Parts: sequence; structure tokens; C-alpha cells
Amino acid sequence: MTKRFLGTCYYPEHWPREQWADDARRMTELGLTWIRIGEFAWSRIEPNFGEFDFEWLDTAIETLGAAGLKVVLGTPTATPPRWMVDRHPDMLSIDENGDVRKFGSRRHYCFSHQGYRKESVRITAKLAERYGQNPHVAAWQTDNEFGCHDTTLSYSLAAQGQFRRWLENRYESPQALNEAWGNVFWSMEYDTFDQVELPNQTVTKSNPAHRMAFRRFSSDQVVSYNKLQVDEIKKHTDAPIAHNYMGRITEFDHFKVGDDLEISSWDSYPLGFLEDRIEETEEFKHAHSRQGHPDFQAFHHDIYRAVGNGRWWVMEQQPGPVNWAPYNPAPLPGMVRLWSWEALAHGAESVLYFRWRQAPFAQEQMHSGLLRPDSENAPAHHEALQVAKELQEIGDDDAVRADVGIVFDYESDWVTDILPQGDTNKYFDLVFDYYRAARKFGLSIDIVKPNATDLSDYKVVMLPGVATLSDELRAAIDKFDGVTIAGPQTNSKTNEFSIPVPLPPNLPGLDATIECVESLRPSEQPKVNGGGHVQRWLETLDTNANVAGELENGKAVVVRQSNMIYVAGWLDQVGLANLFKQVCTETDIAIEEMPASVRRRDTDGYKFYFNYGPTAQTISGHQVEPAGVHWEKR
Ligand code: GAL
Repeated sequence: MTKRFLGTCYYPEHWPREQWADDARRMTELGLTWIRIGEFAWSRIEPNFGEFDFEWLDTAIETLGAAGLKVVLGTPTATPPRWMVDRHPDMLSIDENGDVRKFGSRRHYCFSHQGYRKESVRITAKLAERYGQNPHVAAWQTDNEFGCHDTTLSYSLAAQGQFRRWLENRYESPQALNEAWGNVFWSMEYDTFDQVELPNQTVTKSNPAHRMAFRRFSSDQVVSYNKLQVDEIKKHTDAPIAHNYMGRITEFDHFKVGDDLEISSWDSYPLGFLEDRIEETEEFKHAHSRQGHPDFQAFHHDIYRAVGNGRWWVMEQQPGPVNWAPYNPAPLPGMVRLWSWEALAHGAESVLYFRWRQAPFAQEQMHSGLLRPDSENAPAHHEALQVAKELQEIGDDDAVRADVGIVFDYESDWVTDILPQGDTNKYFDLVFDYYRAARKFGLSIDIVKPNATDLSDYKVVMLPGVATLSDELRAAIDKFDGVTIAGPQTNSKTNEFSIPVPLPPNLPGLDATIECVESLRPSEQPKVNGGGHVQRWLETLDTNANVAGELENGKAVVVRQSNMIYVAGWLDQVGLANLFKQVCTETDIAIEEMPASVRRRDTDGYKFYFNYGPTAQTISGHQVEPAGVHWEKR
């Protein structure tokens, strides 16, 4: 059973050292265990190239550790100091328009710059040598939020050089590359790898296969950059290593980064995300502006439980208003507790609040913390205290293994990004629609990796939009006794970004071929007989399978053969609910229809209910107020 902890993110370099001991005392009094430090402190650790000042960090770690806190030490590579840019002026990343991303904030490095890679290894090695065996440093974090602020893709000369080598390695000859990409189209053929440029600034769109290769390359650069740091840290310690991922950042394959780490963690900012990266109506956003989207956090908790080996944390938890969304309201009283419990119910080992004290200076001066800038308790402080006490009462637990699995595949998100074929066609939204429709029946859900080899623990597996089925997944589906729900757009591209022949979906046991695909204007939403609509995307099937759902005009939209269901359009929430209800009944999955904006997650020991809505709701005979959490034994 998983032991569970709370913690916070702290920046000793922001505060006078006389304050550190008192801060540490107040943290332990609050019931916190973990403290993450160091991830932006490069200019204080190495004020000039080769000149190190570890004295302050030694003292900070000693002070925090002496109070009983366990330190997560971050490598500071997300914030290369000014002298670094003077040493390597060409290390800065370049955006798609060819503009330099200048010094003066953070994440300004290009993952492909060989000089910066060496500098990153150098500083990581210094830290690992010094603190690898420090008794207070109990975990590590590499860098900070890879890909945040659109930083995975860089169109620099360094990236171009590395991309060419990557292509050479993958295709071996320019002729093979030309063939794979279909470069005969528009006379785009190359004679040498060194003629291949990065796919930006072309007259009209560059070849999607070219862009896909660049996306894969860029993702691999993140994976190998992380691994450089991991290898260095591991020379000096056995402590677990984490990275803190973000919400809806999909430009690199998190599963591949996660394979090299012991802990997967993410930074959960529910109110920021609602405003910044979720498409919903104004009415919906208004009703949830102080709670966040009822499914968005859960979706990421489930993704990050699947990334790596199952150990996962929330490394940063929003404590109050953030500073970076278009609107930054305060959470409803109770939401910080709700978000914390929701993470724990999904199996999080630790939840760390970001940040300990609000900093009155620089970019994030308007970002709240557990303490106000004057060191008085901020509103989240007493909610964290309550969670700490409740955690003592409830004890250890684990997220229950779900009956329903949904495949999530980063490459498929790149596919719809590169060639959407309709403005509203986004893989992330498609998977999220399936996920949230299922959650309205109170279901716990597992996210499944796109190269899963064994699905036998599940009763139902869904693979909407997985662009290319891996050999492993195809074999696993072939063996699977439960019900598979595929489509739309499942298996619709080859690995080299072409239309496969035999035509899609070409799924095991399904006699169906897609003749035509269309994207739909928002105003065109054909009705489905029995309830719901199709929106965004519609496919026309040539099939001998049983028709399990059709449009008003008689067109087949859900077909089925044995245990394989194919959905030939983007069903809305009502359409998906009807389909899922039928499948759950048939597979003996108990469903519980959730009142609006209430969601449930089961652990081994408990059923947890979270009220994200603006009004009180009755759940198993209990009145649960807005921002309320209710749990009962299973
Ligand atoms: C995170 C980041 C933190 C801080 C925070 C503010 O994305 O990792 O360093 O910037 O956002 O909400």
C-alpha cells in the first residue's frame, strides 16, 4: 500500500537565511514532509562559470533536513544564467518564425545544443557529487517542466544539424527518406541528408511526413536530454528521480521520458488550465471558474499514473490564484482540499503545494502561496492542514485498478496537429471526450500506453483516434476478450504519415473500410437515432458489420462485429453516454450516474466523490456542498 505525503516548493534563495529555520518549523507543524528546492537557482550555485557557491545550499538543506523535512533537489537547467548565454550565444531556441527566444525569463535553451547539453551534464554532476549521499536529499527532479512555454520544438541551426543526423540514422539513405515521405510529390526529393532543412518558413505547408519526423526527433531530444541528467545523478545516489510534467503539453512523448525515471509527477493548476487550455462554453467556464474542469485534473492524474512505473506525484498544486491565465480568480473555499484529495484518490504518493510563500517580486508576484508575502497564513494554509490531518486518519491506500482503459498516444496528437483536416479536429479533445463521458457514470479509468501488450485486466478498452496501431497493441487487441471501442480515426495513418492500404480502420475482426472522411462546421451536427449528435468529424463506411447506431438519414455511425465496436464519427457526450451505457451493461460494469459536475474515483479502500459544481448535490444520501469531498468505504 502506498504511503502518502504532503509537501511544498520552496526557494531559500528568495528569502533571508534567518527565515529558513522558522519556515522549516512551520512546514513540519503543518504536516508537510517533502520540500522541493533548487530548480531555478543556477545563478546562485554558480555565479560565474566554474565558480561555485554551495555554502548557502548546504546550509539550506541542513536547516530543512534538521527540521525533519525530506528534500527533492532539482537540477537548475531550466534557467541557464546570463553568463551561460554569453558563453554559448547560439544555445537559445528559435521559434517557428525564426525569431530568437531571448534571455530574461526561463527555458530559453535549445535541447539540441551540444554545448548546453555539456553544461547541463556538468552542473548536474556537480550537484549529484555534492548531495548524492546527503541524508536529507531523498529524491531528485530533472530540470523543470520540459516543453512548458512551447519549448520542445526549436528551429535553431543546432536542431537542424542534429535533425539531419537523426534522419540519417532512421532512413539510412536519402532515397529511402524520399520514398517514405513521398517526396516525388512537388519535386521535393533530396540527394543528401544535408539538404534537408527544418520544416518551418515554407511557402505553404511542408510535407506532413517531414513535420512528423521533426516532431519525433524533437521528442527524442527531450528524452535523451533528460537521460543525460539521470545518468549523472545515478552515478552518485539510489534516490528516486522525478520530472514534473505539465497539463496538456503533448509535444514530447512522456512515456519515453518516464521510462528513465522512478517517479512521474505533474503540476496541477486547475483554474489556470480551465481558462488557458480547455475549450468550453462561457457558461461552463463561468460555473466552474473557481473549481476548475471536473475531469481535466483526473485525466492527467490517470495519464501520469501510466507514465513510468506507476509511482506518481503532484509536484506543484495550485494553492490560490495563479498569475498566468487570462483570468485568475481565487478557488472556492475547500477546493485546495478537494484537489489534494482527488490526486490522492487517483493514487498520488505525494502532493506538494506551489509555493510556500508568495514572492512579492518578479514575474510571479501575483501568484499565491501557502503564506502571504508578509508570512501570514494564506487561505490555502488551513486547507493543507486539514488534508494533513485527514491523511493521518485515512492512512495508506492505492488507486483501484479500473475496468475501463483508454489508450493515450502522444504521436496521435502530433498527427492531428500537423494535418487536422478541420479546425476542430484535435486528438487530445477526442480522447478527453471519451474519458469525460465515461466518468459521468462514476467510472474509474486507467490510461493505457500505446504499446501495451496485455489488456486482460480490463473489461473495456477504448482507442479513439490512435493514428497508427503499434504491432504490440494490435496483437493485444487481437487476444483481448473484453470489448474494444475504436474510432473515429483509429489506425488511419501509416507510421510514415500516409493513408494505409488496406484502407483504415483495418482492425482485427472488423469487416469495414472507410470510404470517405469529412470534417464538419460547428453548425453542422447530424442527429443520431436514439439520442445525441455527431460533431466535428464524420466517416462513411463500406461494411458488412452489424450496424449498432445510425444517423437520422440512415447512415451507419456505429458498427460492431463480435467484441469490436467502431465509431465512425465524433459523437457528442449524449451519443457517447448511450454507447457506454450499453457496453457497461453487457460487460457487468456497475455504473452510477453522477449529478452534474460530481465525479467519483475509487481507491482500494474507499469511494471518493468530488463536487466541482456550483450547487450542493446529494450523493449516497449525503448532502455535498460545492467544493465538498465525500468518501465512504467500498
Ligand atoms: C509552473 C512552474 C512553476 C511556476 C508555476 C506557476 O508551471 O513549474 O515554476 O511557474 O507554474 O503557476
